[in-house]
Amino acid sequence: MAEQPRRSFVCGHPIKHSRSPKIHGYWLERYGIGGSYVAVDVAPEEFSTFAAAIKAGDYVGGNVTIPHKEAAFQAVDRRDEAASAIGAVNTLWVEDGLLHGSNTDAYGFAANLDERAPGWANGGGTAAVLGAGGAARAVLFALKQRGFSEVRLFNRTVERAEALAREFGPIVSAHPLDHANDRVSDASLLVNTTSAGMHGQPELDLDLTRLPADALVTDIVYVPLETPLLAAARRAGLKTVDGLGMLLHQAVPGFERWFGRRPEVTAELRDLIVADLEP
Ligand code: ATR
Repeated sequence: MAEQPRRSFVCGHPIKHSRSPKIHGYWLERYGIGGSYVAVDVAPEEFSTFAAAIKAGDYVGGNVTIPHKEAAFQAVDRRDEAASAIGAVNTLWVEDGLLHGSNTDAYGFAANLDERAPGWANGGGTAAVLGAGGAARAVLFALKQRGFSEVRLFNRTVERAEALAREFGPIVSAHPLDHANDRVSDASLLVNTTSAGMHGQPELDLDLTRLPADALVTDIVYVPLETPLLAAARRAGLKTVDGLGMLLHQAVPGFERWFGRRPEVTAELRDLIVADLEP
């Protein structure tokens, strides 16, 4: 019997703004793979039924986005180290009849910097992270894995940063966001994981001249591609990396698992998604 075309998905609610179908569709076409990747709108109360359908073989796997990443974490039979540390699952696959879950955001974050700022983690050192939500967890996991010896976590609601610092151990310390200007003079890396600066959101009030002259500034927000923070960093003469590459790279491990081919994050793919970001 001929093998069925492999079906994969991104599920969320709402889902129509997801760029993942464009990314995976580009790779399926580029490598001539006769599979599919579709966007599925799954309401919160339907997630467990959807997870059961994946496990029953309706799909080889797929991506999970807002608001299902924690429900997916609960639903899987097996989690990898990244998913366990981050507490959320964004990539699912079925193996030997079991539902497996990973979180590829930390991988995507690090791979984006590896591509655009090679050597960014050399020697570890001190990093400053703004924000203490789900995205911050992925960034903290990546920084810990890459050997940073100290991470200062700044958040508007300092209690959230304190809770996260306790989880990640002594390398992470928690501070109020408005202390950031006074505590970044030795940071080789500044990462924004807050939604501030996102299209339609207020900006962060930071003095980037307090960072060392060779510091790298990156934002996980990618709409707009150059956030107010990145624009200010560029004006201050600092190196910057935008967040779009994190989105592209986090998709790589899933595609490889479902379709058996490690896809490339090409300039053409980046251009395709950039064109899609225009209002
Ligand atoms: P995500 O999962 O994408 O990280 P989240 O859990 O909603 O999203 O977290 C959003 C982060 O952005 C939080 O750190 C939030 O700060 P609070 O914990 O104090 O709410 C931060 N954030 C959102 N808007 C902000 C703003 N205008 N200024 C500063 N921080 C902001």
